[in-house]
Order: sequence, then structure tokens, then C-alpha cells
Amino acid sequence: KPRLFSGMQPSANSLHIGNYIGALLQWRELQTTHDAIFCVVDLHAITVPQDPAALRAQTRRTAAQYIAAGIDPARSTLFVQSHVAAHPQLAWVLNTITGFGEASRMTQFKDKTAKQGTEAASVGLFTYPVLQAADVLLYDAVVVPVGEDQRQHIELTRDLAQRFNSRFGTTFVVPEVSILKETAKIYDLQNPASKMSKSGETPAGIIWLLDEPAVTAKKIRSAVTDTGREVVYDPEGKPGVSNLLTILSVVTGASLDALAAQYDGRGYGDLKKDVADAVVAEFEPIRTRALELLDDPAELDRVLAGNADRAAEIADATLARVYDRVGFLPRA
Ligand code: TYM
Repeated sequence: KPRLFSGMQPSANSLHIGNYIGALLQWRELQTTHDAIFCVVDLHAITVPQDPAALRAQTRRTAAQYIAAGIDPARSTLFVQSHVAAHPQLAWVLNTITGFGEASRMTQFKDKTAKQGTEAASVGLFTYPVLQAADVLLYDAVVVPVGEDQRQHIELTRDLAQRFNSRFGTTFVVPEVSILKETAKIYDLQNPASKMSKSGETPAGIIWLLDEPAVTAKKIRSAVTDTGREVVYDPEGKPGVSNLLTILSVVTGASLDALAAQYDGRGYGDLKKDVADAVVAEFEPIRTRALELLDDPAELDRVLAGNADRAAEIADATLARVYDRVGFLPRA
């Protein structure tokens, strides 16, 4: 089976509907046809300050949500990044073939430092995409399913793989990105001009997987919509309504065309009520299952440990290949 790798940061108490629709849904689907490896990227999370106790809890919560949403740890490999030492080890080597200018062009770094400036940012945040490249390349992944915001990082991963291969001889598989066009970017419900993000500034605009159903429904009913009254899919002219239609389409499986016909002559209120009902129905069993899994952290930790062993076996073999290629003296 072709190998797949992807990951999410444990940087909040819950995943949000953007993570779910942009990434998790693809993961769940692709794990049936791929040898899938899913990581909770805690090393990435600490590129911005994290409270230690909260980080530990969030790491478990993220893993529990992967499983509750349908990632099967018996079929796929689901592990915590810091449990496999090869990740930062390969990242170091890749740092040495990454151009400073090249890294400076990463838009996520520019976005994340736009407000406070680069002076206050950590060097870890700057080199974040290189660690991400290491994640993917360690596993010879052929495909990386992500949302649109990760496209540039996977481009860099491909460039680094090709550069290493041409300098040191073929070592890495050059991966392809997988982004589903229509669902690649879910927007903040209170600010449909910007991407829904874990660190978003509008708490009411973020739909968390682990929110209580009543909270989710309320946030959706208060979503910002657009001027006019017609429910039409028009991302430019009606970003708020279009975002809700995208969500409804994904969750119910109805096409955007079918939904347009269904809401012909009906108002925003009807649409919001239906989106709220559909999202609550989709998330409620996932939420319940995740909370159940979190009730038995020892069992969850056991699953993660077994999966980390599986991951480390693959990763260590790749790292050994890399160390040999760059000319490190093997330890006798
Ligand atoms: P993270 O934790 O920011 O996001 C996890 C996944 O969710 C997608 N996503 C979205 N999709 C649609 N709409 C949104 N509003 C939205 N917000 C987030 C992201 O594209 C991502 O797929 N750098 C990665 C984590 C990572 C990784 C990797 C991914 C580390 N190493 C190796 C793939 C391969 C990140 O920050 O994800």
C-alpha cells in the first residue's frame, strides 16, 4: 500500500471544524487505501510558548480525537512526534541544506510574526517547516493530505527531498500533496474573510469538535452572514453563506448544486438551523467517544507507545540511511 503521512498540532484543547473537514475527513478515507501514519506534532507546538501541563493534556486530547473521528490505531500508525527521536535528528540535517532566504519566504512564518515582528519569534518557529519536512521524509510518504494552508510547506518538503537526493544520491521519496479543493479552507464564522484557526481572535467564530452541542448550535446560529437574503454559493460575494454551504455539503454529503436548489426561496435562518443540526449530529458521537477515551488515559498512552515503536522502526532506518549519505562516522 502507498505510504501516507500527516499531522496536527496539539496547540488547543480541541480540534476545530477546519481541521476536521480540511484534514481528518481525508485521513479517515485514505487510511483504507494507504499505509497511513498520523502524528500529533508536539515538537511543532512548542515553537510558540505552551504551558507544560496543558501541552501534555492537549496531546492526549488530540490523539483521542483522531481515534474518535475514525482513525483506527490498529490499522494506521498514530503516534506522538516527541516519542520518535529521529524527527528532530533529521530536521537538523535538513536545516543545513535549507537556505535562509528560502525559509524566510514561508508565508506561515510571516503571518505568525506579522503582528509582533520577527524579533520576538523563536528560531524554532522560523525553522518549523524544516521539521515538518523531516516528519514526512522519514516515512517515505508518497502523499500528504492537508488543508490549503500547508501547501507551501509541502512544496518545501519536495524541494528539500530533491536537493538532498541530487547532492547525496537518491535517499528520499518526493511526496505529493493532497488538498481537496472545495474543503481546503474553512473560514471563521464571525470573520469569514479569514481562515478558521486554533489561535483565532474570535472565540464565537470557531467550532470546536469538543464543544458542547448547545454551544456549537449557538455559534452556528450566530454566524455572520452577508447582505441580501438569497442562499447562493458565491465565495467572493457571499463568503459567510458560502462557508456555511461548504460545511453543510461536506457533513450531509449533498452537492453544492443540490443545496442551492434546496434553499431556493428560503432564508439564512433556515440554512443556519440546518447547518447547526447537521454539525451537532456529526460531532456528538465523536465528542462522546473522545471523552470516553480520555477517561482512561493509561490505555490511550499504551496505544500511543505501541504505535510509536512501529513509527520508530521506519524512521530510524531512514535516519541511518541519511547519516551514512552525509558521511557521519558510524558508532563502532
Ligand atoms: P495544524 O495543526 O495547523 O492543522 C492541522 C490540519 O488542519 C488543516 N487546517 C484547515 N483545513 C481547512 N480549513 C481550515 N480553516 C484549517 N485549519 C487547519 C491544516 O491544513 C492541517 O492539514 N504544520 C501542520 C502540522 C504538521 C504536518 C506535518 C502536516 C506537522 N508536520 C507533516 C502534514 C505533514 C499544521 O500546522 O497543522
